[in-house]
Amino acid sequence: MQTEATTSRHDGPADSSRRSAPRVETADASLSVDVKLVPSPRGCPPGKLGFGRVFTDHIFQMDWGGEGGQKWHAPRIVPWSQLSLEPSAAVLHYAQSIFEGLKAFRGADGKLRTFRPERHAARFYRSAERICMPPVPPEQFIAAVDKLVRIEEAWVPTAPGASLYIRPTMIATEGFLGVRPAQAYTFFVIVGPVDAYYAEGFGPVRIWVEQTQVRAAPGGLGEAKTGANYAASLQAAEFAKKKGYAQVLWLDAVERRYVEEVGTMNFFVRIGDEVITPPLEGTILPGVTRESIIALLRERGVTMTERRITIDEIRAAHAAGTLREVFGTGTAAVVSPVGALGFADGDLQIGDGQPGEFARLLHDEIVAIQRLETPDRFGWTHDVP
Ligand code: COI
Repeated sequence: MQTEATTSRHDGPADSSRRSAPRVETADASLSVDVKLVPSPRGCPPGKLGFGRVFTDHIFQMDWGGEGGQKWHAPRIVPWSQLSLEPSAAVLHYAQSIFEGLKAFRGADGKLRTFRPERHAARFYRSAERICMPPVPPEQFIAAVDKLVRIEEAWVPTAPGASLYIRPTMIATEGFLGVRPAQAYTFFVIVGPVDAYYAEGFGPVRIWVEQTQVRAAPGGLGEAKTGANYAASLQAAEFAKKKGYAQVLWLDAVERRYVEEVGTMNFFVRIGDEVITPPLEGTILPGVTRESIIALLRERGVTMTERRITIDEIRAAHAAGTLREVFGTGTAAVVSPVGALGFADGDLQIGDGQPGEFARLLHDEIVAIQRLETPDRFGWTHDVP
């Protein structure tokens, strides 16, 4: 029987006919990395880590363009240092910048693993294509992450809820102010130990339903992990914080009715016996945690639907007493329960102030798989060589 390999727009490196980015060199899949270590490496500091403040001793870096030619070259792991950029570098002016966020864990068996790195590599590839950057071949992305994580293994925290956060990033480095794709890029990976993303930890957060600003419009950058998307989200989030909310609920840009994302996370709502998440139609980030949550719910036999849902439907479910829980999902927080949705005419309370049943269960299940405290029947974990 012949099987046809279908690649959905969210599944991996995309249709090359739509690509205007420079051509990718994929010939050198193995990554022979030049390693220069610091003389006295440190290790994970004791105490509270927070998120995104503590970084390790080294960074991975490689370049595209310039004297090394139009291919990825000079992969290296070097002591942590500042990046040196021309003030005219394209990233500083036209925001040609993409990133990923994934995590490494020390398993219950002592082994070092990352979670679904191939999904992050594939999304990074698509983000690069979307803003005309030279994609990093997925096998090189994974090899770079593996090598850096292995070198920094003394930094992988073991406390419950903690992990080594990995931030692969690509920026346009060419010094040129003409508006076109740059001709030089740097891909780098930094890592740092983290614990809970939100100060509230796993406590339910209050979310403001944003009616004025939008995160992404059809045809825009919404499904790519570009720095520009996050810049666009800041002002609404700041307004929400001033009103006492942790983040905003984003509605669609056209009708301002359909729920899209919550803060920097994908959105899930449980109404009656159905769990609903908005479909990936271009304006929503295809979250790796989102994908994992859908699989876990379907494994449990829960009716898990990817469909558009309006904010009015959610209000109506609340009025009818069928709104059971709302939660966000993302790599950083894993699952974050929502305790209230804020509107100009007041808050809509969700549940009893405690994390909802599915939010708790799904959070614990993903964390357990990541550490292999429960069997990884989906093949999501990757052993770091
Ligand atoms: C995630 O949780 O996946 C995110 O993207 C949040 C990160 C930007 C801090």
